[in-house]
Amino acid sequence: MSVSDTPTPSHTQTERVLSGMRPTGALHLGHYHGALKNWVRLQDELNCFYFVADWHALTTHYENREVIEKNVYEMVIDWLAAGLDPAKCTMFLQSRIPEHAELFTLLAMGTPIGWLERVPTYKDQQEKLKDKDLTTYGFLGYPLLQAADILIYRAKHVPVGEDQASHVELTREAARRFNHLYGREADFAQRVEASLEKLGKDGAKRFEKSRKKFQETGDTKSLEGAMDFINQHPDLDAAEKERLQGYFKGTGKAVLVEPQALLTEASRLPGLDGAKMSKSYNNAIAIREDKASIEQKIKRMPTDPARIKRTDAGDPARCPVWQFHKVYSNAETQAWADQGCRSAGIGCLDCKQPIIDAVLREQQPMLERAEPYVTNPAIVREIIDAGTDRARAVAQETMRDVRAAIGLAY
Ligand code: TRP
Ligand code: SF4
Repeated sequence: MSVSDTPTPSHTQTERVLSGMRPTGALHLGHYHGALKNWVRLQDELNCFYFVADWHALTTHYENREVIEKNVYEMVIDWLAAGLDPAKCTMFLQSRIPEHAELFTLLAMGTPIGWLERVPTYKDQQEKLKDKDLTTYGFLGYPLLQAADILIYRAKHVPVGEDQASHVELTREAARRFNHLYGREADFAQRVEASLEKLGKDGAKRFEKSRKKFQETGDTKSLEGAMDFINQHPDLDAAEKERLQGYFKGTGKAVLVEPQALLTEASRLPGLDGAKMSKSYNNAIAIREDKASIEQKIKRMPTDPARIKRTDAGDPARCPVWQFHKVYSNAETQAWADQGCRSAGIGCLDCKQPIIDAVLREQQPMLERAEPYVTNPAIVREIIDAGTDRARAVAQETMRDVRAAIGLAY
């Protein structure tokens, strides 16, 4: 099925989604079920921006950047294999858009160090990655760089895993602080004037009257009435609506938008040994892996340690294979495996066969989608070039507002 030539609604939709991944290795099925599958779904619903977070990768891999270089475009091929479609979403490369670094610098001025030291991943990762020296300025600042990534696109939604929720929270705090410090957009008064004109003489008069009433008495009826009036007005665009609402309430129009984490209720797929799937634990199946290797890896998966002989009954709860059934098998197959295990009616290799089949079935279309990009990597670069141009235009627009709000427009 080719969807790339159907007209796409997503670019015209205003609610922007932003997420990124670090290019530190081939993506695996844990990434697919934990994040990518969700990205693919979202590209049909909202205006999605997805980027290769190569600067983020440098915060932990500054001593072996070859890894990053090797994986940037490979990761994009994995995305395309998983079903991201350049006609439906914008894919780009972080380091090509230096505005991310500019916003990061400006946000850094007013961000207390304590905010960053308290982010849970800071200490966790230093503990976990003991072989790396992560007592660096870049690593401490990394969640603020992530905040800049998000805020520069005024993204409403950020699809991330649980482990990243604290970074989105920091992003919200950074946005709130920025808006508090630098408040309303430049030339707010003139722009309000222009928007008011669109309401017509009578409309503007009524609007002003109820604004005064609301600001003097806090009358919520006036507020609700005016908000309805604004929201339903056919001649105002989204920015004008927001501006007039800010004017009515006396808050101004926010320069930066507070995002929401879109936590993936994704099926969690653990690694072959039951621990978190990770290339460095050697328990992963890549998104593009050859058939023989997949078969072999699944056949070698450890099972319930109590099932030593074929005649020993087992307990699926103690078996990593069962976790795969939960993701890959329907109710009927699950019941078959559960019963067969508990009664020693089936052997572990029997139990694994439907999973081998399902994983291969899942990979088939991914390999097919990847094929043209693998044979012709120039197309991948073109996709990223086009996406980067689109993303840069948005980033530059935000930065104009940011500079003006701070007063750097001299
Ligand atoms: N920190 C994310 C990770 O390690 C990657 C990332 C960087 C990101 N910037 C982002 C995710 C912005 C979402 C939004 O997985
Ligand atoms: Fe695991 Fe299946 Fe073997 Fe039971 S039968 S131990 S669930 S592989």
